[in-house]
Amino acid sequence: MQEIKFYSGENIPLELHKVRIVQKLNLVPIERRLEALNEGGYNTFRLSTMDVFLDMLTDSGTNAMSDNQLAAMMQADDAYAGSQSFVRLQKAVEDVLGKKLLLPVHQGRAAENIIATAYVKKGSLIPMNYHFTTAMAHITQNGGKIAELLYDEAYKINSDHPFKGNMNIEKLEEVIKHQGANNIPFIRMEASTNLIGGQPFSVQNLRDVRAMADKYGIRLVLDASLLGENAYMVLKREEEFKDSNMGEILKIMTGMADLVYFSARKLSSSRGGGMCTDNMVIYKELEALVPLYEGFLTYGGISIREIEAMAVGLYETLDESMICQSPSFIKYLVEALDAKGIPVIKPAGVLGAHVDAMQFCAHIPQTEYPAGALASALFLISGVRGMERGSISNQRDEYGNETYADMELLRLAVPRRVFTLSQIKYVEDRLNWLYDNRLLIGGLRFVYEPPVLRFFMGGLEPTSDWPQKLMAKFKEDFGESL
Ligand code: F0G
Repeated sequence: MQEIKFYSGENIPLELHKVRIVQKLNLVPIERRLEALNEGGYNTFRLSTMDVFLDMLTDSGTNAMSDNQLAAMMQADDAYAGSQSFVRLQKAVEDVLGKKLLLPVHQGRAAENIIATAYVKKGSLIPMNYHFTTAMAHITQNGGKIAELLYDEAYKINSDHPFKGNMNIEKLEEVIKHQGANNIPFIRMEASTNLIGGQPFSVQNLRDVRAMADKYGIRLVLDASLLGENAYMVLKREEEFKDSNMGEILKIMTGMADLVYFSARKLSSSRGGGMCTDNMVIYKELEALVPLYEGFLTYGGISIREIEAMAVGLYETLDESMICQSPSFIKYLVEALDAKGIPVIKPAGVLGAHVDAMQFCAHIPQTEYPAGALASALFLISGVRGMERGSISNQRDEYGNETYADMELLRLAVPRRVFTLSQIKYVEDRLNWLYDNRLLIGGLRFVYEPPVLRFFMGGLEPTSDWPQKLMAKFKEDFGESL
């Protein structure tokens, strides 16, 4: 794709789409935002969209849909079994991901449930580049453990490494030798490693992982939820692929995995999910669990309309001018924040901009959840809803002890084709103000902690009256402005 240069020399990520359906937003006063935080237990998952201005919680199910996706939804062939919409989806999966056998599921974690139920038992170890919350929860619920095998560079906030999501191959072999291949039902590679800042792996790294899987006879499972963006990063950053297209890179990557699963809430800007393979043995091992947990094999718990949108969305993933939109806005935001000295994960990855709360709130100990506190503070002063991706999102160990996250991040998701550049500039502006006033942010403590995936519904409270003080300073500086 050719870059569009500005005469002024400014680096502006120009939108290659037009907006034809809009949704009105509200920016409620700061007093209401404080009330909303108190009602929602200082947990951004528990806020109502009535109180949210820019929703940067996630890109999951919030990417903009295209006119062609909406049109396809109107021709859905609603049937419990044998729907032609599913046939169209199978074709799209084969054309785009190169796999012939497809099992539909209602979303990504449903695939994780089925894969873990089929393969993980007590004593199993699953090596992976890095965990995702739901993937790990399903493995541990089935009695397994995980081993995270990134290179040290991945944990560096300020880096220029193009592929921080790469799996450490030397460590992988050590773990396999130590654990015994028999106790490793599969190796999991996650495209655009979510929790370390949306960082991709290279095709070369995947080849090396594949070679190790072959050497020891272990299945390779690819979490393809963010595969489109990973492929885009390969196109931009891996010399060997600079003249390739999205379709070629996607198929090279999926071709190396025995089993590919994905959340279609991300991968194809719709709903649903799927597991696909060319291996009939694997297909049969998983097949029976789909009607048990999800629904019949030709809908898997997904509405048929969304199946049509998924099929079209998969083809649209091949379009570089579509897939580049979110990464280029993220790059713009990361570079703007970095220029102001605000600590953000570099290089810019996919999914969102990730602010390093460990540095931003260096005065808040990890025991008081700096990333959760920063997410609350940003919402208070801007109405921007981000997501805590730090220790609150971690799970306690098997003895019930708190485990602290490797990184304390505030994730500001940039769903595809949803925000305008002035909205991104507003985020930059308010974060800038917050950085200058960061010492006013205080810690949080749990008042309600659910036993599983606590970050979703957990409730917290501030450890002092810091939100009131932050609000007072905001009013002093901004006066009547929202
Ligand atoms: N794998 C990855 C890499 C993900 O990012 C997600 C979801 C899932 C699996 C689970 O898929 O939500 O459809 O069940 N990530 C969302 C997020 C929730 O906000 O990053 P799901």
